[in-house]
Amino acid sequence: MRTLGIAALLVVAGMLLASARLARAQDSGLIEAGQRAFMKQGCNGCHTVGKVGTPIGPDLSHVGGKYRAEYLERWLRDPSDLRPSTHMPTLELSNDDIKAIAAFLGSRQ
Ligand code: HEC
Repeated sequence: MRTLGIAALLVVAGMLLASARLARAQDSGLIEAGQRAFMKQGCNGCHTVGKVGTPIGPDLSHVGGKYRAEYLERWLRDPSDLRPSTHMPTLELSNDDIKAIAAFLGSRQ
């Protein structure tokens, strides 16, 4: 009985570990997609992340430490909604690109 309980516990622990690994893998897929979209949508034409980009707007290397992904998503939908005096234009981004770019920038802490 006792060993059965321990075995069941091990199975549950293994399942939890596997799903945590899967979640991490999905996250890193989204972050990579966000990095590609960042280049494709021309964000790097006005921003730097690490050594890449052009420093016209603020450097975004550590922007994930400043804002959470939800705020970044709102910002990407319409910057002037959050900061009326902003100089960043509203870009026509798909929902997928917004989610991926927000995950990418959110990971830059
Ligand atoms: C034409 C230049 C330009 C482009 C293109 C551009 N930005 Fe910006 N961005 C700016 C400027 C300028 C600011 C400073 C905002 C202000 O005026 O308050 C800014 C601010 C930001 C901020 C807030 C930074 C902070 O520390 O508050 C984020 C996040 C950001 N941009 C992300 C992006 C992403 C992602 C893209 C691509 C989808 C992008 N930007 C494209 C010019 C640009």
